[in-house]
Amino acid sequence: MSSFIPNQNSASTAVGIAGPAEQGLIDRFHRRIDYLRVSVTDRCDLRCQYCLPEDFKGFEEPANWLSHAEMARLIGLFVGFGVKKIRLTGGEPLTRRGVSDLAARVAALPGVTDLAISTNGTRLARHAADLKRAGVRRLNVSLDTLDRDAFREITRRDHLQDVLDGLDAAHREGFESIKINCVVHHGSHEDDIARLLQYTMGKGFILRLIETMPMGASGRQYQYVNLNEMGARIAERFGLIPTVEHRGPGPARYWANAGNIPMLGLITPMSQHFCASCNRVRLSVDGTLYLCLGQDNQVPLGAALREGASDDELRRLILKGIDNKPERHEFTTAPERIVRVMAKTGG
Ligand code: 5AD
Ligand code: SF4
Repeated sequence: MSSFIPNQNSASTAVGIAGPAEQGLIDRFHRRIDYLRVSVTDRCDLRCQYCLPEDFKGFEEPANWLSHAEMARLIGLFVGFGVKKIRLTGGEPLTRRGVSDLAARVAALPGVTDLAISTNGTRLARHAADLKRAGVRRLNVSLDTLDRDAFREITRRDHLQDVLDGLDAAHREGFESIKINCVVHHGSHEDDIARLLQYTMGKGFILRLIETMPMGASGRQYQYVNLNEMGARIAERFGLIPTVEHRGPGPARYWANAGNIPMLGLITPMSQHFCASCNRVRLSVDGTLYLCLGQDNQVPLGAALREGASDDELRRLILKGIDNKPERHEFTTAPERIVRVMAKTGG
């Protein structure tokens, strides 16, 4: 680390940090971190059974929510370190006022090549056009079922139609890609998932199935299902073929249609973890930097910012955090480890 600390007498702080900024963020396991996920709120208008208890009391105090300006400052520091891809997430990001304005600020940072948002879709009909205009290129929308009763059972709210309307609005806006994330567990029905795939293929969306992770007490109530077999079975039903072409730096593996367009993906953090190629870190709404979804290592960047830290001091904290990025999650061997809910870091 010491070679990363700029000379304290250096007149120009920006020059002092130039070396590591050029190198980018590389951790002890030689992973390059070029992806930052930012939870703009931990609040949500749904209460998915595997994510949040109905009467969840652990939400962050509003006094600790970073303002858009404070978030943009932190994000800018990461971008200065070569982070190119930013995803806004939650909780439900569209419950926070002015998310499109934050998106526009982030999109304007030189060096950001990819700005995406993850949403549950309930408010997407109202926001799709603004998000597109702000420079958001890609959307991930969480949707587990097309059955209204099952949706109400999973999310404890009756908002399926809002999500479908939101998806139609987003479709009309012509985003570069719309992916549907479907969490699968022991209570999921394969036929339900096949119906969802029929729908997503018809709309030109990509369906991704996700193994449930034991995040918080809610997540631990659900047993994950090893998706490799189910994925292959469903893909075969729709005549899809495995494709390596779209296996980017992300954790999903895909099946494509005859035109080699990916249609179905699997995210298998439990049965086949992908930590060796992890390229991401996360910021929560209070500016805490989380180094791993499945570990508790963190850096209170937001608190430091509010105590008046300079950009250089914040950069040093970021580098120290990256140096402490854990090798892998331990969801399978230590499932009780992560007490925080998924809504805090947004997956
Ligand atoms: N395991 C896997 N995915 C989860 N999500 C929420 N809780 C869990 C969990 N325990 C998903 C949501 C959404 C994203 C925010 O994370 O469905 O896709
Ligand atoms: Fe909200 Fe997403 Fe959690 Fe569901 S999974 S309660 S939509 S944050």
